[in-house]
Amino acid sequence: RSFATPTFDTSNPRIPPYLKLVKNYEKVKEVLGKGAALTLAEKILYSHLDNVEESLMTNTNGGRNIRGTANLKLKPDRVAMQDASAQMALLQFMTCNLPSTAIPASIHCDHLIVGERGAQSDLESGIKMNQEVFDFLESAAKKYGIEFWPPGAGIIHQSVLENYAAPGLMMLGTDSHTPNAGGLSTIAIGVGGADAVEALVGAPWELKAPRILGVELKGKLSGWAAPKDVILNLAGQLTVRGGTGFIIEYFGPGVETLSCTGAATMCNMGAEVGATTSIFPFNSAHVRYLEATHRHDVAREAKKFSDIVQLKADADAKYDEIITIDLSKLEPHINGPFTPDLSTPLSQFKETVKEQNWPDKLSAGLIGSCTNSSYEDMTRVEGMVREAIQAGLKPASDFYITPGSDQIRETLRRDGPLDTFKEAGGTLLSNACGPCIGQWKRHDGVEKGTPNAIFTSYNRNFRGRNDGNPDTMNFLASPEIVTAMTFAGTTTFNPMTDSLPTPSGKEFRFTPPSGLEIPTQPFEAARHEFRPLTQAPDPSVNVAISPTSERLALLEPFEPFPNSELTGLRVLVKVTGKCTTDTISAAGPWLKYKGHLPNISENTLNTAINAETGEVNVAYDLDGSKHTIPELGKRWKKAAQPWLVVAEHNYGEGSAREHAALQPRYLGARIVLSKSFARIHETNLKKQGVVPLTFAGEADYDKIGAGDEVSTVGLYEMLQNGGKGEVALKVKKHKTGEELLIKTKHAVSKDQAGFILAGSALNLLSKRLCR
Ligand code: F3S
Repeated sequence: RSFATPTFDTSNPRIPPYLKLVKNYEKVKEVLGKGAALTLAEKILYSHLDNVEESLMTNTNGGRNIRGTANLKLKPDRVAMQDASAQMALLQFMTCNLPSTAIPASIHCDHLIVGERGAQSDLESGIKMNQEVFDFLESAAKKYGIEFWPPGAGIIHQSVLENYAAPGLMMLGTDSHTPNAGGLSTIAIGVGGADAVEALVGAPWELKAPRILGVELKGKLSGWAAPKDVILNLAGQLTVRGGTGFIIEYFGPGVETLSCTGAATMCNMGAEVGATTSIFPFNSAHVRYLEATHRHDVAREAKKFSDIVQLKADADAKYDEIITIDLSKLEPHINGPFTPDLSTPLSQFKETVKEQNWPDKLSAGLIGSCTNSSYEDMTRVEGMVREAIQAGLKPASDFYITPGSDQIRETLRRDGPLDTFKEAGGTLLSNACGPCIGQWKRHDGVEKGTPNAIFTSYNRNFRGRNDGNPDTMNFLASPEIVTAMTFAGTTTFNPMTDSLPTPSGKEFRFTPPSGLEIPTQPFEAARHEFRPLTQAPDPSVNVAISPTSERLALLEPFEPFPNSELTGLRVLVKVTGKCTTDTISAAGPWLKYKGHLPNISENTLNTAINAETGEVNVAYDLDGSKHTIPELGKRWKKAAQPWLVVAEHNYGEGSAREHAALQPRYLGARIVLSKSFARIHETNLKKQGVVPLTFAGEADYDKIGAGDEVSTVGLYEMLQNGGKGEVALKVKKHKTGEELLIKTKHAVSKDQAGFILAGSALNLLSKRLCR
């Protein structure tokens, strides 16, 4: 079949470059042959290949069997950045000295606003506290032609879904829940700042071809079950690591029964099982949502595009694994505490609370966020709140509502739900992340260290995630279940079977929720002050960074790899136990230094356990003097003493936080030697010019210690050979002078060898751009 004559609107930047994608897709079909059957995720990914022939032909089996092995070089259509991670992404982009971004991009100010007393006052104090950072982001946006969404405009993923996501689009976002846009048939992947910069300068972005996990949906949700319950159930089945290396692709007759925003909730939380991203096939709910959000043009062009490429899996496409969920049989689930994969069906939750001795009293219920603040969610909840008010009830626990954007907030105001929530005594928070990212200042007397339970419709529930209190148990549930529990004030309430006493003495039972998928009138526009700032790049704009700033600092390029082996390295510290990205670069109060590498480096490994002494955040210099780990790192940086860290299994697990690689590199780390690495962190290290090596024999972990002198054997040659070759470490024991050779393994690809030799991926990129 030839796709020679499609006509597409190429004048609107919010319409994906369908013409280009069709042409690329045609090449994909030519290369793979007529019989090739592709999943939807493969269709969209391969249409974004930088060089179709090279990528698909050079791989095994004529391109048909590249999942899990090939490195795809992709050209995304768009980048979105949230305020905390955008700082480092932009600082890196600035070093490339380009007049504008090569593809459309947007910045969303959402993470830095604290949830405390309510939308208006929280927003005012948030802006005051972070003015310098917001000014920096806004000036960079103006200079480079990036769309700027001011504080209060909305949470990145909701704004993306309402404005940028489009069927067949491929985008990157500097936030792990970027896959939210998969609910609108977009391939949307969460990445670190260095990856975003590659896309922003127009360079190809590399991704190991994912395997595809098909989730077949049958039946139709009814009663209390909501889209949230599908993903809560799936998280329980897959666990937090079960989706690693996979794209989750939904298919089956149940797809057509779901709303676009419900699908987005499910894709959003695919991040909780470690999936690269999640996606739904293009369907009628997408058209309805696009039109309701004033994007008739996108809907029209998407239909034309789908007529050609079929935005769903081909009939004989093969999934690597399949899980089937019957929506008709699904009951509400509650996941937690402390991990999103501990899933309990509602019918068993009461007993589980008693068995586990979890608190019976509910201290707060929080609904909304980027995950669950859709019109459908909120109108279903409004119905419940209205009937409870009519029965004379008020929420028995504190009730917080976070709209995902000003567009949804204004629509809910226009159509009534906001008034209903206020009438019930709910607190409306600003359109920002707030309590979902530890930015929740509680005034309910629950002190740090007090065990207590909260219910949220958010997506993550790690310890301390909401209020910084490690003893707050966060249970994840649909907004409807959160609301029911909040009215009951207890964690053991089951709205499907239990009733609540009312002031009149009658018993009240909630009727199963119902709501509207989209408003009957199109969505209301956001208030003027919360609309995005859009302008052509303006080279005359000065990007605002004060030289005396404590929160922002320009980046200096890292030094390149020497033209020789590394010699004279010393082991800074040997750590034991779990070493997550939080251990390497803590969040919480450190969030404010995200744009200042020297300042945030003061937290490097500050909760790591010293394997030799059992002390937390303690390291010893060669003269025996005792320091914190970051202090010794700084001391060695000053003395130009390069170093390495020795660690155990899964070093760098957790988020994609690139600071966990940047900070050690800034302080002088050249190697991390561990028993194994978390995949994303291992890539991040190489991007910043640090060499991740694993022990060939795990027992060697015991033979190397703090202060030992290390030289590499074969590393330089391996890098020059594009990642081919073996690497060993010559170790001279600090205390005895004894010498030994430790064999290691590595997973350095050709491109990554280039990053390391150049000093960082960014150095290499800058070099290429200056040619
Ligand atoms: Fe913000 Fe929480 Fe979503 S931090 S982007 S509301 S996951």
